Amino acid sequence: KLRIAIFASGQGSNFQAIADAVQHRKLDCSIELLVCDKPAAPVVERAHQSGVEAFVFQPKQYASRADYEAEILLELQKRSVDLIVLAGYMRIITNTLVEPYYGKMINIHPSLLPAFPGVAAMEQALEYGVKVTGVTVHFVDGGMDTGPIIAQQAVDIRPDETIETLAARIHAVEQELYPAVINQIANQQIKLTGRHVQIITNAN
Ligand code: GAR
Repeated sequence: KLRIAIFASGQGSNFQAIADAVQHRKLDCSIELLVCDKPAAPVVERAHQSGVEAFVFQPKQYASRADYEAEILLELQKRSVDLIVLAGYMRIITNTLVEPYYGKMINIHPSLLPAFPGVAAMEQALEYGVKVTGVTVHFVDGGMDTGPIIAQQAVDIRPDETIETLAARIHAVEQELYPAVINQIANQQIKLTGRHVQIITNAN
């Protein structure tokens, strides 16, 4: 069974969607750990409610990013985590974690990458005036939202769109797409070769 750790900083709606999929046996993996850099974040309470162990830390209490990432790595190794799932983890991740988990760390981002990387992607899309945006799931490399793309789903931007209406539809797409991709990884249906991701469907 695939052993996953979810990293999150905020609301945790994606955490919840994954935890629910596991609970309802739509996703055959185990959530070994929540990693959270914000002690007051709602996602911490969600982990508690779901019976998922949490490693909650305050970056300020460490001398450097490398220091807390090394501690996170130990927590992951202790639990033999196979896959890191970033779900609104709003921190840059460096080599301490990227190297040991290359090809085993995924992120979800609320735009069609490579458009609108970084923070406030939905705001950026509205501001720019694009008519289509969406959601991307990708492997994490050393860059900011630059890793090999696994899956994308488009979301139209409507004439009277506001950040609230757009966010609601983006989040709904995320909550379907992320558990589905994790399920494909659990079923070994995703193969990474260089920058290219191949999805192996049962039909083949
Ligand atoms: C999600 O919309 C996710 O795509 C985004 O943060 C939100 C977290 O929501 N991630 C990024 O912007 C990463 N650059 P959640 O805490 O409710 O899952």
